[in-house]
Amino acid sequence: MKTRTLGPGGPTVSAIGLGCMGMSAFYGGRGSDADAIAVIRHALDQGITLLDTADMYGPHTNETLVGRAIDGRRDDVFVATKFGIQLDPSDPQARGINGRPEYVQQACEASLKRLGIETIDLYYQHRVDPQVPIEDTVGAMARLVEQGKVRHLGLSEASADTLRRAARVHTIAALQSEYSLWSRDPETSGTLAACRELGIGFVPYSPLGRGFLTGTIRTIEDFDDDDYRRHSPRFQGENFDRNLALVESVQAIAQDYGVTPGQLALAWVLAQGDDLVPIPGTKRIGYLDENIAALDIHLTEDDLARIDAIFPPDAASGTRYPAAGMGALNR
Ligand SMILES: NC(=O)c1ccc[n+]([C@@H]2O[C@H](COP(=O)([O-])OP(=O)(O)OC[C@H]3O[C@@H](n4cnc5c(N)ncnc54)[C@H](OP(=O)(O)O)[C@@H]3O)[C@@H](O)[C@H]2O)c1
Repeated sequence: MKTRTLGPGGPTVSAIGLGCMGMSAFYGGRGSDADAIAVIRHALDQGITLLDTADMYGPHTNETLVGRAIDGRRDDVFVATKFGIQLDPSDPQARGINGRPEYVQQACEASLKRLGIETIDLYYQHRVDPQVPIEDTVGAMARLVEQGKVRHLGLSEASADTLRRAARVHTIAALQSEYSLWSRDPETSGTLAACRELGIGFVPYSPLGRGFLTGTIRTIEDFDDDDYRRHSPRFQGENFDRNLALVESVQAIAQDYGVTPGQLALAWVLAQGDDLVPIPGTKRIGYLDENIAALDIHLTEDDLARIDAIFPPDAASGTRYPAAGMGALNR
């Protein structure tokens, strides 16, 4: 397995990770826990070390699942989890963001218990809390490092300015934000540049565009009733059709390489720099192997330029979250 570091001198992890969210939440077609555990263990057998979860996936059940999967294999794994988005059991649509220092401590201790480990390798704030200065939240996260409960700190969907402020309090190993062919915000917002300036690794989430960039999703009717993507602007009506046309337009390039559109999408992310470690999510061993094989694709400069011409930063139709989700991004 190829490896990369999260920032110069940062921790070494497999060059792609495994996103575990869809095994417990947001996307339909979920199988049994035993199936999901088999996928995670297969990933470890293939040399993937970076597993990505969060306390709000399930909520809570995804961390428990990951904990069961890594039981007895702690040395093979670099566990990344997140805190800060609170769900309301009585209202599935409601979301609270909590970055208060006392909550950071409680959330970490609860995650450690569910994961069944003594130290979290990478602990992210899932969304920046606009009510709490980032210095206070990161200060509380830094105390977790002092206590030996966490090894490295990360932020998710934080702005360049927030990253600069956070990095003055404690070393930040990684920023995890959405980045893929159809979500190019980190290029235009300056967060990717800020990561490079500050020596912070970049972990692109949803690198397959929540599955859309694989070209296997042909209609919204493919989704189960409880699938989040039924409510995502990019998957609605005309947006869906326009976005599908974009995916089809890169299919010819994928064919030239003898790879799938999903592999091309991953190879594109990987080609953006050695400081990027994408975390594609899947519930299937076959997809996982296909995603790992994308590490062997080397896109030429000409082809990267061709892809860029087809998929310029603002090509996708529709925002990447509904209005409330867009409002929770730190920009
Ligand atoms: N920080 C954040 O706010 C945030 C937000 C979203 C996600 N994340 C993290 O990022 C991870 C990845 O993102 P994601 O799961 O949203 O999106 P993604 O990785 O872009 O796409 C996942 C979807 O693609 C499908 N897929 C995977 N490999 C495929 C292949 N080779 N061919 C065809 N389809 C394939 C999966 O299907 P199956 O499930 O059927 O295998 C799933 O529906 C998550 O698991 C989570 O850990 C973080």
